[in-house]
Amino acid sequence: MSNPHKAQIERVDMDYGRLPVLRDVSLALGHGEFISIVGPSGCGKSTLLKLISGLERPAKGRIILDGEEVRGTPPKVGFMFQRDTLLPWATVAQNIAVGLELGGIAQERHAERTAELIGFLGLGGFESNYPATLSGGMRQRVSLGRLLAYEPDLYLMDEPFGALDAQTKMSMGRELLRIWSTYRRSVVFVTHDIEEAVSLSDRVLVMSGRPGRIKAEYRVDLPRPRDFRKTRLLAEFRELCEAIWDDIMGAEADAPDNPHGHGSY
Ligand SMILES: Nc1ncnc2c1ncn2[C@@H]1O[C@H](COP(=O)(O)OP(=O)(O)OP(=O)(O)O)[C@@H](O)[C@H]1O
Ligand SMILES: [Mg+2]
Repeated sequence: MSNPHKAQIERVDMDYGRLPVLRDVSLALGHGEFISIVGPSGCGKSTLLKLISGLERPAKGRIILDGEEVRGTPPKVGFMFQRDTLLPWATVAQNIAVGLELGGIAQERHAERTAELIGFLGLGGFESNYPATLSGGMRQRVSLGRLLAYEPDLYLMDEPFGALDAQTKMSMGRELLRIWSTYRRSVVFVTHDIEEAVSLSDRVLVMSGRPGRIKAEYRVDLPRPRDFRKTRLLAEFRELCEAIWDDIMGAEADAPDNPHGHGSY
């Protein structure tokens, strides 16, 4: 492959009006690599994903995908947003078909591919249901289905399982790793949950309080495939989580908009 990186962020600054949001952020994402970003609320994590997807433009610095600077919205970048963006008036099958449509998948493959994804995500029997009649976990499965239908090369996932209970969150994480090991795409995953970040990722990046900078990076060398229940008992797992936790607490205390310093997270 000509470019060793799927994405590179080079010395990016970003402001919303006069509000400085990101400062001097650099990172390089390998092909097929899974990274997570953690950091205090408001430090610019969602903004960073929007920059990579071309939804926002940096004030300074460059975003490079497959060796080319991002100017418009690049094709084959899939976004799973912090809030649920399923179409309420469309069924499970139709919501997934939106991804096929956007991904430019040939019309004659739609029915087959939708059925495949529904089976893959354990949504069989719910094809004709509307989102309002699904559980939170099922809705997130449909969102994942739409993302997969689009066949992105790069997954940008903004706290996709943040609203789910611990058990469902873990099973969605397992699902995501199964997808990732099947398709081997690059993933940037934003979360507040340190254990989730360590369980899933090859690397975890910690951002400082706003204006966000990358203040630390942890490589996660835990063996794959990962059985979460076992992985979470390893001393190395616990140590990594604790170190990241300490870093984030430090970041929260640094944040100018946090009057409480070391608060609860
Ligand atoms: N469209 C916008 N216009 C103006 N300010 C914005 C906009 N989007 C975000 N901000 C501000 O930019 C800062 C970073 O926001 P962002 O959503 O990137 O944070 P975050 O790290 O994703 O936070 P959270 O963890 O709560 O999701 C915040 O102070 C927010 O108020
Ligand atoms: Mg956010």
